Amino acid sequence: FDELEFSNLQLDQHGPLAVLTINRPKALNALNTDTLAEIGQAVDLIAENADISALILTGAGEKAFVAGADISELSEMNNVYSGRELSLGGQEVMQSLSNLPLPTIACIQGFALGGGLELALACDIRVASPHARLGLPEAGLGVIPGFGGTQRLPRLIGSGRALDLLLTGRQVGAEEALAMGLVNYVSDEPLSKAREVAEQMMRNAPISLALIKEAVRRGAHLSVEEGMEIEADLFGMAVATSDFAEGTRAFLDKRRPEFKGE
Ligand code: HXC
Repeated sequence: FDELEFSNLQLDQHGPLAVLTINRPKALNALNTDTLAEIGQAVDLIAENADISALILTGAGEKAFVAGADISELSEMNNVYSGRELSLGGQEVMQSLSNLPLPTIACIQGFALGGGLELALACDIRVASPHARLGLPEAGLGVIPGFGGTQRLPRLIGSGRALDLLLTGRQVGAEEALAMGLVNYVSDEPLSKAREVAEQMMRNAPISLALIKEAVRRGAHLSVEEGMEIEADLFGMAVATSDFAEGTRAFLDKRRPEFKGE
């Protein structure tokens, strides 16, 4: 990624791990349309790069992951059409992140509010620092979440808990977020923890990871029976890979498997 120039983010590669850092310190990393577009470009580059096996998404500095959509920009929206456009554009970026066929981990230090929490929700899992603050304060600004929050949050933590957060707009700390399943891990060293979890995931067969994500994603909208059919199809695809042959052979040989993503 060396040749790339982004204004509001940084994309680093550490071997098979990509780290995408939102960096707009003057606005606590708030997402203006330029930053959103850059995230979309970065996600596309990661999707095209066969050397990348996992992604950590974080915010620069300790104060904020991302403090939401950029409120100065939001304040200029004054009609149904511009609002809808902004929402659809942001949703598309979040969907492309969510659809990446590799594990994605949000590393949350400080504030993850509004569109910032929605960005974290588009990742597979979330790691938070003990001082993280998470919430969807949109109703207090006279809008609603528009980057997928009304859909992803209830699917993740259940409608009752989601409606509490959405209707009050209150912020939750890391421990409460952990208790409600909004974050997966709380750590004093969230980036190290995120890397540790990424490494654990990357020890598994990459095609299995992609198929698991696909099964969970496609099944979310279906009956259990329909979801099971998808699972069986994808299971069949996994069995046809050489990594499956390697994984089972390694077990029987009592050694670590060497997966090739084939
Ligand atoms: C633009 C922002 C911002 C934001 C902070 N800043 N959040 N600018 N958009 N979302 C700017 C402040 O204006 C300020 O700029 C600087 O960052 C530091 O922030 P402070 O407010 O001075 O810091 P502090 O007092 O510590 O408060 C931190 C905070 C607060 C609690 C996080 O900044 C805050 O409430 N931010 C807004 C959070 C929010 O409502 N997010 C949801 C947005 S709606 P200056 O120039 O004064 O130094 C949304 C909708 C998504 O996300 C869907 C759209 C379709």
